[in-house]
Amino acid sequence: MKELHFGVDYYPEHWERERWDRDALLMQEMGIQMVRMAEFSWHKLEPREGSYDFGWLDEAIALLGKYGIYTIVGTPTAAPPAWMINKHPEILPIDREGRVRGFGGRHHDCQSNPVYREYIRKLVTKMAQHYGENPYVIGWQPDNELGNSHQELCTCASCRSRFQDWLQKKYGTAEELNRAWGTSFWSQEYNDFSEVYAPRLTVTGENPSAMLDWKRFCSDLIVDFTREQTEIIRKYAKNQFITHNYMGFADKVDYYKLGELLDFVSHDQYPGGFYLPRTPHEENHVLAATLDVVRSYKNQPFWIMEQQSGITGWEIMGRAPEPGQLSAWAMQSIAHGADAVVFFRWRTCAMGTEQYWHGILPHSGNPGRRYRELQDFIQEVDPLMDYMHGSMPRPEVGIVFSFEQEYAFRIQPHHKDLSYTGQVQKYYRALYEKNIPVDFVSEEGDFKKYKILLAPLQYLMSPELEEKYMDYVRQGGHLLLTMRTGVKDRNNFCMTERELPGRLSEVAGIEVLEYDCLRNAEVEVLFHGRKFLANIWSDLMRLLPGTKVLVAYASEFYAGEPCITAHPYGDGICYYVGTEPGEALMEALVDEILSRAEVNSILPPVQGVECMFRENDRERFLFVINHSGQEKCYEAPQGYQMLKGVQAGCLGAYETQILKIGKS
Ligand code: GAL
Ligand code: ZN
Repeated sequence: MKELHFGVDYYPEHWERERWDRDALLMQEMGIQMVRMAEFSWHKLEPREGSYDFGWLDEAIALLGKYGIYTIVGTPTAAPPAWMINKHPEILPIDREGRVRGFGGRHHDCQSNPVYREYIRKLVTKMAQHYGENPYVIGWQPDNELGNSHQELCTCASCRSRFQDWLQKKYGTAEELNRAWGTSFWSQEYNDFSEVYAPRLTVTGENPSAMLDWKRFCSDLIVDFTREQTEIIRKYAKNQFITHNYMGFADKVDYYKLGELLDFVSHDQYPGGFYLPRTPHEENHVLAATLDVVRSYKNQPFWIMEQQSGITGWEIMGRAPEPGQLSAWAMQSIAHGADAVVFFRWRTCAMGTEQYWHGILPHSGNPGRRYRELQDFIQEVDPLMDYMHGSMPRPEVGIVFSFEQEYAFRIQPHHKDLSYTGQVQKYYRALYEKNIPVDFVSEEGDFKKYKILLAPLQYLMSPELEEKYMDYVRQGGHLLLTMRTGVKDRNNFCMTERELPGRLSEVAGIEVLEYDCLRNAEVEVLFHGRKFLANIWSDLMRLLPGTKVLVAYASEFYAGEPCITAHPYGDGICYYVGTEPGEALMEALVDEILSRAEVNSILPPVQGVECMFRENDRERFLFVINHSGQEKCYEAPQGYQMLKGVQAGCLGAYETQILKIGKS
């Protein structure tokens, strides 16, 4: 079978049966090769308890199949039907304020509820038996955007008791739990696991160790919820894949762990943002970082399961994508490692919450500008995708990304403007703007692949991770560590044995003796004789022998003291950044690190133009994407062949060129 590259999210159940043939024909004419269906249609599949009706879905799958279009089946467990909720209201989730969240949206479910789990097992078993060998069904998506809408949910009796079991398994005895959570503070000791609560809104403050375990538990619950479905599906669907639609940096579930259940990861990419007037999603570096982090979750090419195909918005709408912009966004997904792109959605829905989240077709169902643009796009790009099959970006720079650090900073952000993912993206941005491709890498990942490894905010530390960082530098790596590294152990206790950053002082060549949280203030610093600004935080440190000062503070009571340092260690260098560099300082610092590690831009940067590459053993594919509505010029490299585009170096509005470069 040919590799499939393009699809749409399709909801035939929202339209009259007479329309389906026309939809299939229009899809076929456009080059659509697959659809995802059914991920919210529990009631249609089981209208009454125990009475299943798969007829409509069978018919849709068969009809599309006749047009050469394959199906990814979604399990509808993000939308339990009214009959079930009425019979078992305990399935409804309870939030941190103790409020029951009602029926009428989606994800109104408690993922630990045993009754709900039983309904799921029955339905998913039926579906897997029914579709497991259907020749037109190629794969599965359990649930939808797991973790979405479960923020702050669920604290019901069932979740509380599962949390207690989870803790018992982890700690064994109540004494051990008390020690790990430091419960002697404010008289929070437990005599027995059965006394532990799921965290409800408190009168004042929370226990950071308990909250960290709660977040871990919630993530594990989602993985377990998913595993139940993947095991059933795998039993009956031996030749069909299982994937799931992730949401980039969303943190409710540890996506690395969830990925272990999947054949490959998918992601939903909405550059236009989510029904808010302006979100950071509109910034190109955030879009690029999001795609790169998704690639890192399994460290392999991924799919886009929902790619924006029109105006986004529920109650409030975003801007209309300009001519060419939808294609540029889809190209960006491919450049960063997507092997397939499924557009959300086929036709704009006439009813329900998402009436204004626009599809390829407008409400009228008549093909218009978006249809024609994406049709041309697919016709042109599909053969190129076949050609580039098996290629992956292979960056020389890695940025460590960890859900545990994210959780710990959510619990204690330190400063109103500090966020872990925000900080990671600031480092990413400096590299992005210089056309330096980046991989994200988990704490368990392979650091040695990278000439440069940036590890911002390594707040929770373990002896193994310390050793891994030290070893990386010893063997020649260029490592960047920052403020708030090595502050806590994995129980979220402050380290007390040594000055910060603990054992990593040896590799960083500094000891942090004091710090200053820059509340409503910036600090001036000096780098190569030039003044810059830094924010959020100042570490005040003592240098160990051999450490060089790169940047010094130039204001506050610590003017003249070191702010950013470099320390040769083994065959490598460790940089320590005691602050959050402002944009200009970040740029200068990154330049310095890149030049010392001899990492070069893939092309000289041009404002609004993104460069990325994928490669296999023979060839390198350079993507140059114009994200602007104006023509742009760039300096084409030597010895290329045009794979897509006419005149290398000259980009029309929203145009992408792909240059093929042989590898020597
Ligand atoms: C995604 C979700 C879709 C749809 C879309 C537009 O987050 O997976 O089901 O809701 O957003 O709102
Ligand atoms: Zn619950």
